[in-house]
Amino acid sequence: MKRKPVIAGNWKMNKTVAETKELIAQIRKLNVYKAAEVVVCVPFTDLASAVKACKGARIGVGAQNIAWADKGAFTGEISAEMLKEAGVKYAVIGHSERRQYFGETDAGVNKRTAQSLKHGIIPIVCVGETESERNDGVTDKVNESQIRGAFAGIAAEGARKTIVAYEPVWAIGTGRTATKEDADAAIGFIRRVLAKLYGKPVANRIRILYGGSMNAKNCDELMSMPEIDGGLIGGASLIAADFCRIIESAKSKF
Ligand code: PGA
Repeated sequence: MKRKPVIAGNWKMNKTVAETKELIAQIRKLNVYKAAEVVVCVPFTDLASAVKACKGARIGVGAQNIAWADKGAFTGEISAEMLKEAGVKYAVIGHSERRQYFGETDAGVNKRTAQSLKHGIIPIVCVGETESERNDGVTDKVNESQIRGAFAGIAAEGARKTIVAYEPVWAIGTGRTATKEDADAAIGFIRRVLAKLYGKPVANRIRILYGGSMNAKNCDELMSMPEIDGGLIGGASLIAADFCRIIESAKSKF
């Protein structure tokens, strides 16, 4: 089944408002290829200006987190309503840096995913094993439990809209990309887990991205794999030419 490819930039804690405007202007100038779903996930303080800068460009703007509650005493959190008001369409949830440095758990990822769907924001749910888990041969087990955790109680209708990003932790920001075969196998496995939860027709519609040192050089081979529906790009998304080159690699999907 054909799935529309997604190329999403995860800027992490990079770029001020002025820099955001500049980088989006550069992407707009270079990006002639419109067939992929293109997303930039920027810091909270950049959201409003990113939305403005992307107007008319078919680039969606995403946040890098979303609160699980509607409002109230949750210091430091940003609600779905606030994000929607800013024009945000996507939210990265459960990135390994959130899990590693800020205590994000599968239960939190699940609540944030449900909240995101409730408000019509597309969740980009991140899962992936650490290096020691891979060495211990528990890659599939870890990914299965993170997927089951994230999707607990989520109805098929929401699951179908959700984007999953498989990001092996050892490949993030390290320059060590998973081989295209390993990435494809892990994503194929995740799709089978989703098929167990929702049935094959739903699982076959869910876009599953690869993330972890994906760049302008390795994007073509990663995107050539049948299970890989796109990329969640960190470092390379901060360089307009590289990000646009990765967007172009989605051509192979059509
Ligand atoms: P990277 O980051 O492309 O810099 O490895 C990917 C991510 O963390 O989403």
